Amino acid sequence: MVSLSVNLNKIALIRNSRGGNTPDVLAAAKAVESFGAHGITIHPRPDQRHATYKDVENLKQIVTTELNVEGYPSKEFIDIVCRVKPHQVTLVPDPPEALTSNAGWNTLEHQSLLTDIVTELKNHGIRTSIFMDTDLSLYESAAATGTDRIELYTEAFARLYPENPEKAILPYKKSAIRAHSLGLGVNAGHDLNSFNLKYFSQEIPHLMEVSIGHALVSEALYLGLEKTVHLYLEQLK
Ligand code: PXP
Repeated sequence: MVSLSVNLNKIALIRNSRGGNTPDVLAAAKAVESFGAHGITIHPRPDQRHATYKDVENLKQIVTTELNVEGYPSKEFIDIVCRVKPHQVTLVPDPPEALTSNAGWNTLEHQSLLTDIVTELKNHGIRTSIFMDTDLSLYESAAATGTDRIELYTEAFARLYPENPEKAILPYKKSAIRAHSLGLGVNAGHDLNSFNLKYFSQEIPHLMEVSIGHALVSEALYLGLEKTVHLYLEQLK
């Protein structure tokens, strides 16, 4: 079964809007795990407007499944993840002011930066993943960085899916096959939801993990976290 890692940034965003500790990110992580999710994801941005670096430290203490920390590899980010040692780090190329991740890596242009960082993370025993678009010309250089996995950036799929599912999925299928043939594990995330997840996970070969935040937390406002996590797990079976 494909693993579901629940991104808790939106819980942290609501908490930060009032300055206290409600809703409690750690309690949400425990709840999500107890409802059967396979992992917790957090994406601290440089301004820490939703997840904070402290959240990364605190989550590492209590997560019993897998902690995936996403982020741009600034010195501060790398220092923290090397100290805390989450199970997986997903490297994203987004600039500090980005609202959300909006592109995959250009692995040709940034090959030496990525190689250095992947090597450092792996020396700390951390599994690595790098965020990728579906441009197949970038996959060989992605593999050359030594990364364990890639994460497919699924926004374009999610946008086109309602109109033309076959056209939406095709580049992702090709990318997953290419990544697998290069020895890379395949994760995916961004704008996946209870409407498009089943199709995506059934159609993509070698898919190991999806990380989902915005839609899952939004749907939980109506259904509750437990039912929503179960609903998403159901789509992955
Ligand atoms: N993967 C990456 C690299 C992301 O930046 C995000 C958003 O923080 C996600 C996955 C999850 O996207 P969504 O919140 O749309 O589910």
